[in-house]
Amino acid sequence: MSYQGVIKRYRWYLPVSEKTPIITLQEGNTPLVLAQSLSKMPGKNVEVYLKYEGLNPSGSFKDRGMTVAVSKAKEERAQAVICASTGNTSASAAAYAAVALMKCVVLIPKGSIALGKLAQALIHGAQVIAIDGNFDDCLELVRQITKEYPITLVNSLNPNRIEGQKTAAFEICDVLAEAPDYHFIPVGNAGNITAYWKGYQEYKKIGRIKHLPKMCGFQAEGAAPIVRKQVVKDPQTLATAIKIGNPASWKAAEAARDESGGLIDLVSDQEIISAYKLLAAQEGIFVEPASAASVAGLLKLAKNNYFCKQKTINNKQTLRIVCVLTGHGLKDPERAIASIEQPKVLPANLKTVIKEIGL
Ligand code: F0G
Repeated sequence: MSYQGVIKRYRWYLPVSEKTPIITLQEGNTPLVLAQSLSKMPGKNVEVYLKYEGLNPSGSFKDRGMTVAVSKAKEERAQAVICASTGNTSASAAAYAAVALMKCVVLIPKGSIALGKLAQALIHGAQVIAIDGNFDDCLELVRQITKEYPITLVNSLNPNRIEGQKTAAFEICDVLAEAPDYHFIPVGNAGNITAYWKGYQEYKKIGRIKHLPKMCGFQAEGAAPIVRKQVVKDPQTLATAIKIGNPASWKAAEAARDESGGLIDLVSDQEIISAYKLLAAQEGIFVEPASAASVAGLLKLAKNNYFCKQKTINNKQTLRIVCVLTGHGLKDPERAIASIEQPKVLPANLKTVIKEIGL
């Protein structure tokens, strides 16, 4: 039978039963691309793989969690779902709520979400409310609303979201026939690092993999509460998806880091943009800036000879590294345009054009 989404594929590992109506857009099953250029890291044999989550139906990894969260909400006869979002959660919630014939309300920080994501939430028919505040303010409002009113929270505070998102770790292990040695990932509200760690641990427990990866998470320099060990009141970064100052899954992210022997570090906006451009220009993959934080982190550690110092684990000559690319570049075309030289305008004249091409 053809592929039918993450619930059908991994139903034994998910909180669903025959009674659960499956709301799916055939999310998941995303490519694990061997990165040719990034794998040529000096000083160590490495294989770098890119988990291309931008190829999910709404263009981000959120769809894995949303299929489970919205299916469970439907099973529980919820009439409406609500989330706070830096853009991708709202786009995904709006799409899945549309399929489920449910009302969807999204609270977004005014002026701080990429245009593509806003377009998605609107066109899927969500009620979009822009809040004069940041993501953390939106999440606090949503927490209070869902405590008192009959509307289901679909942020990653909802455990069904984490359950769905852990399937990405299963896919990586299924493709590699083992876990990678390192797992690099951007960290915002910290749900995804929590989900991957849960997925790897579950696969280890049932014997599908023999070892666990070191979890390496990266926050943006101006929005790095976990690294700085304190809430950031006014987070700042051009990677708007991870512009978060008080992550909901803070403790779980620290647990993933500490239990795996990994790290959570920060990368500057400049490092994020360099990685963003490198991915597009050398690997052929267009991501949104927040997604490039995982690769920016990889390049930062490589520059500091981190991998040279690492002993080869599991008696292997080559280290296997997976970087998660969380969202598609088309979500934020304005950032791409702002990051690169604009096209030259020439007259419609053959000679001039040929000269410009350099032929
Ligand atoms: N990358 C992208 C593209 C994201 O949209 C997010 C989070 C992250 C990384 C970080 O993942 O929050 O699980 O640590 N976006 C959320 C949203 C906050 O509202 O769309 P996280």
